[in-house]
Amino acid sequence: MSSRYIVRDILKHIASTLNPHIPRAPREAQLLLMHHLGVDELWILTNQQELVKDVDKLLELVQRRAKNEPLEYITGKVSFYSQEFFISKGALIPRPETELLIDEVLKRIDDKSSSMTVAEVGVGSGIISIMLAKFLPNAKIIAVDISEAALEIAKKNIQKFKVEDRIELRLGSLLEPIDEPIDYLVSNPPYIADDAQLESNLSYEPQNALFGGAVGDEMIKKLLDEALRRNINSFSCEMGYDQKDKILTYLKDKTFSKLEFYKDYSSFERGFTLRL
Ligand SMILES: C[S@@+](CC[C@H](N)C(=O)[O-])C[C@H]1O[C@@H](n2cnc3c(N)ncnc32)[C@H](O)[C@@H]1O
Repeated sequence: MSSRYIVRDILKHIASTLNPHIPRAPREAQLLLMHHLGVDELWILTNQQELVKDVDKLLELVQRRAKNEPLEYITGKVSFYSQEFFISKGALIPRPETELLIDEVLKRIDDKSSSMTVAEVGVGSGIISIMLAKFLPNAKIIAVDISEAALEIAKKNIQKFKVEDRIELRLGSLLEPIDEPIDYLVSNPPYIADDAQLESNLSYEPQNALFGGAVGDEMIKKLLDEALRRNINSFSCEMGYDQKDKILTYLKDKTFSKLEFYKDYSSFERGFTLRL
C-alpha cells in the first residue's frame, strides 16, 4: 500500500532525506513536490493539510536527487535567460554564464533585423540558437552537434519556442556539415581537460559536452582555425577561466582585426570574440 502523507509532513520528510546529501534541502523538497503535483509555490503554502497523491513515485524522485542527480534532469526543466527550456540527460544543463555569450553576440550586431547566417557548433539543448533566433528576427541559424541525443532535445525546444522555420539542425562535427558562407559563428564547446577531477553531479552530464581533449582547449583551437580559414567575420566563444593566455599564444601569428575577451559573473575570464 502507498504511504499516506499530507503536504506539510512530506516536505519535512523529503528535506530530512535530502539534508545530508545536498545543500538547500527544504527548498529542493518544495521544488520536487511542486514538480510532482504540477502546482506552484502559492498552492504549496495554502494547501499544507492536503493529502499528497502517488507518494511512492515522488519518493523515487527524492532518491534520485539524494544520489546527486541534478534537479533539472529530474524535473525535465531548466531556466535560462528567463525562459523555461526542456532538458534531459542527453544534453548539458545550460549554465547561467552562457547568457553572457548571447549578450556578446548581440552587442556586436548593430542592425538586429539584418538578414544573416549564424552558425552554432555544439547546440546541445538549443538555448543559444533559440535565444538568438528570438533576438535576430531575420537571421538564418544553422546549429550543429555531434550528438544525436542532444539534437533530439534541441528539436523539442525549437518546437516549444516555435522557431522551426529559423533554426536548422545538422548532425556532424565542427563546421563539416555547413558549406554555405557564415556571417557569425558562435560556440560553447566542451573545454575541460580530459583528466580534470570534477564534482560528482557532473557525472550525470554527457561527457562529450564537458571534455575538450587532453589539454581542454583543442576544440576551441579547431574552431579558431575554421573561422580564419573560412573568413568568418565574427566568432564568439565561451572558454575555460584559464585559457585566455593559450588562445592569445595560438593566435599570435594569425591575421585578424580584433580579439576581445569577456568575464563571467564571478569575474573569471569566460570567453572571447574574434573579428576578422
Ligand atoms: C558545452 S556543451 C554546450 C551545449 C549548449 N550549447 C549550451 O551552451 O548549453 C558542448 C556541446 O558540443 C557538442 N560537441 C562536442 N564535440 C563536438 C564536435 N566535434 N562537433 C560538434 N559538436 C560537438 C556536445 O555534444 C555538446 O552538446
